[in-house]
Amino acid sequence: MVSLTALATPAPVVIAPAMDSHMYEHPATQHNLQLLQSRGMRIVGPDEGRLASGHSGVGRLVDNLTIIAALKQAMGMHGDLAGRKVVVSAGPTREAIDTVRFISNYSSGKMGFASAEAARDRGATVTLVTGPTALREPDGVMTVHVDTTAQMAEAIQTACEDADLLVMAAAPSDFRAAQVAERKIKRTGQEVDVHLVPNVDIVAGVKNGQLVKVGFAAESEDVLANAAAKVKKKGLAFIVANDVTAPGSGFGTDTNQVVFIDADGAKEHLPLLSKAEVGHRILDHAIPLLRKRRG
Ligand code: PMT
Repeated sequence: MVSLTALATPAPVVIAPAMDSHMYEHPATQHNLQLLQSRGMRIVGPDEGRLASGHSGVGRLVDNLTIIAALKQAMGMHGDLAGRKVVVSAGPTREAIDTVRFISNYSSGKMGFASAEAARDRGATVTLVTGPTALREPDGVMTVHVDTTAQMAEAIQTACEDADLLVMAAAPSDFRAAQVAERKIKRTGQEVDVHLVPNVDIVAGVKNGQLVKVGFAAESEDVLANAAAKVKKKGLAFIVANDVTAPGSGFGTDTNQVVFIDADGAKEHLPLLSKAEVGHRILDHAIPLLRKRRG
């Protein structure tokens, strides 16, 4: 029944094999999987681990989240971002003070990860540049891990060389310690001065004439005015203004309430939405701009 359905359907087919490792590693199975792949079917997994036979090896069914991600990617492969390269940044950066301490912020990475998954599910080739987070790496996305703002700047500049769209959802640290102590600073009861110097502005510095740059503005007061000022200052197509003091919005939440502000000052107010939905709305807003720049 399964093979008849697979033969009859014009839909994309995703196969998640699960079997004993000897069976999986047999040349006949490997040959058949390669043949199916050459015919456009997607193979996910299998994973390595404990098998039904009691042995350990390759052959475990991949977990549900991996299968769901593969299905979404397969269904979106001819989506409205097919053929586009999208770079998304996420999470905080960390700037060391000494060998055991750093300054950072409360960004969880959720907004950036959700935007990267949204772009993937609409057919884009996605690079996600992320600072340290507790989130699971998204399937079907090239993920680059960084710690500091300087590392994030370098990874984003490289990823953006041939990209169409940059969604800058990360919260990179604006400052770093002028000098990082080579040993753990000892507690003596005296005050300690940490002299901070400004970090590079990543999004303002990214160079690629065709790139559509979308920034975020995490604001706690005069949200719209402060965000609008950043659109021009950072050379953005539009900014996603984010009142990080509003309930359910900003750092660490699963939802976000934002306003899009275009370079010409036009505003689109969005209700409180899941970060996944905000990611999709950002792409909806960016796609006409991509079409104008690259056709
Ligand atoms: O990660 P979550 O917990 O899901 O939270 C989401 C978020 C609140 C972090 C996100 O929605 C958000 O608002 N990100 C922007 C945070 C920020 O750094 O805002 P900013 O106003 O300081 O910076 C403006 C823009 O410049 C941002 O796109 C930022 O990524 C970028 N920037 C900032 C500093 C810097 N050195 N280089 C930059 O490119």
